[in-house]
Order: sequence, then structure tokens, then C-alpha cells
Amino acid sequence: MRCPVCTSSLYMSGDQKSAFCTGERRHCFDFSRDGYLSFPGNSGGDSKSAVDARRSFLIKGYYAPAAEAVVRAVEKYVGRDAAIIDAGCGEGYYTSMISERVGMTIGFDLSKFACGAAAKLARREGKENLLYSTASVFELPVKDASVDALVNIFAPCAEEEYTRVLKNGGYLFVVGAGKDHLMGLKQAIYDDVYENGERADLPEKLVHVERINSRHEIAVEGQDDIEALFSMTPYYWRTSESDRERLKSLETLETEIEFEINVYKK
Ligand SMILES: C[S@@+](CC[C@H](N)C(=O)[O-])C[C@H]1O[C@@H](n2cnc3c(N)ncnc32)[C@H](O)[C@@H]1O
Ligand SMILES: [Zn+2]
Repeated sequence: MRCPVCTSSLYMSGDQKSAFCTGERRHCFDFSRDGYLSFPGNSGGDSKSAVDARRSFLIKGYYAPAAEAVVRAVEKYVGRDAAIIDAGCGEGYYTSMISERVGMTIGFDLSKFACGAAAKLARREGKENLLYSTASVFELPVKDASVDALVNIFAPCAEEEYTRVLKNGGYLFVVGAGKDHLMGLKQAIYDDVYENGERADLPEKLVHVERINSRHEIAVEGQDDIEALFSMTPYYWRTSESDRERLKSLETLETEIEFEINVYKK
């Protein structure tokens, strides 16, 4: 990693409680109580309630088959000793799986709540090759050409910054919604339903290597899980009270999930 202030190399202190840079000013950054590396000036990203809802939904395993497809895609291109970044990692569901199966993994997210939830779990599980830090994906505290791979899952894609930190020959995995992702959820709420369009921020300059589609039918059981899934979607904020009521009458929600995994090479 590099210092977000002066870009000199960053090292962990012996007691693992802080990180310091080798620049003239020896900038020092502390780990939070939850165990993520906290850099100043980063705020925003997901709220605590959004983070809690995503964690409670994802740990039930509803997205596990699609998550498995993401990890397999990474394994196909990246060796076990790789250095890998999860940019916009949220509360670390995919980050944790990647760290178990690939190499040294760092998750960056703007949200201190997301990094806090992710780091707490990593500590509880004793994961030593996994680190979380607050940072914007548009300004990563990472040296030029230093990582083997970067995954970007349902979070903003910053092509220029990702290209800067990737080694030559490194891989970028951009994961977004396929055209039928959450179709059943949309049909339960709205009268007129459209397919999802392509992500608008897909990389344009990196070499496109492969597109992998992972599509599954899931049944979401009970109001708590249905509400948690709904709150993870952009529809949550744009749906009227009367349309929300339709969802509240369901015991089970059957829906497609569809991830598009686009692989790029630097
Ligand atoms: C929809 S969530 C996806 C989280 C995780 N990748 C997943 O799929 O479960 C988007 C995440 O991106 C984060 N985020 C949004 N803008 C960001 C930025 N500019 N830099 C870093 N993280 C950002 C949010 O805080 C949130 O955790
Ligand atoms: Zn510095």
C-alpha cells in the first residue's frame, strides 16, 4: 500500500495497531477498534442499516451460487499467491470468499460501517491474509502496478484508477446485474417490468477477455429476508407505499438472480 497523503510506502507497525509511511513526515494511520485501517477524509458510502440488511441477507446463502461463479472466475485467471483488491467491498461477503480461495486480499470501501462489519468478521474468523480499509475506489492508497487482480462487485467502476494499480498482465473482474437479475422481485412490485440494461461504467480501454453469465432461480423465504433483499436494490428508494404493500403480502418471493462477470486484462 502507499500513503494516501504523500504516496510513500506504507508499513504496518509491529503491534498491528497502526500503519506509518516512509515519507519525511512519517504519516501515521490507526486501525479502528473493529480492525480496519482508517484513513482520514473518507466519508459516505453505505449507511449502517444498508450494511446490516446486506449482511443479514447474504449470510443466508441466497447469492451463493452466483458468488461461487465470481470466485471461480477469479481462480481461473489468478494464482493462489496473488495480491488482490476488492474495490467497493461492502461488508466483505465476496472478499472473504476470495481470500479463502485466492491470495492476499484487501477490501476497500468508503463506508466505515461496511469496513467495520467486514473487519470484525475477519478477526472473528482469524483471517490473516485479509485486510479492510476505508478508501474511495477513485483514489486507492495502493502503489502503481502492484496488484495481480481487482474485483469490483456492484460498486462504482473506476477504470483509470484500477488500471493504475494493476500490474501489466493483471486482471479486472467487473460484476454487475444481468438483464434478468431480480426480475421476480420487480414483477412482484410493478405492473410494467423492463429488463436491466448494461452497466454504464464498464471499462473501455482495458482488453476485454471474457463475459461469464451466472443465472439462478432462488426462493426468498419470509418477510425479513424479502425486505432485506429489497433494501439492497435501487428500487427501494423509488417505490411508492402502495407498491411496497404488494411485497408485504408475500410469504415467499421467487426470483431470478443473474450476475454478469466481465473479465479484463491490463
Ligand atoms: C451495492 S454495495 C456492494 C457491496 C459489495 N461489493 C457487494 O456486492 O456485496 C456498493 C458498495 O460500494 C461502496 N461505495 C460507493 N461508492 C464508493 C466509492 N466511491 N469508493 C468506495 N466504495 C464506494 C458503498 O459504500 C457500498 O458498500
Ligand atoms: Zn506519508
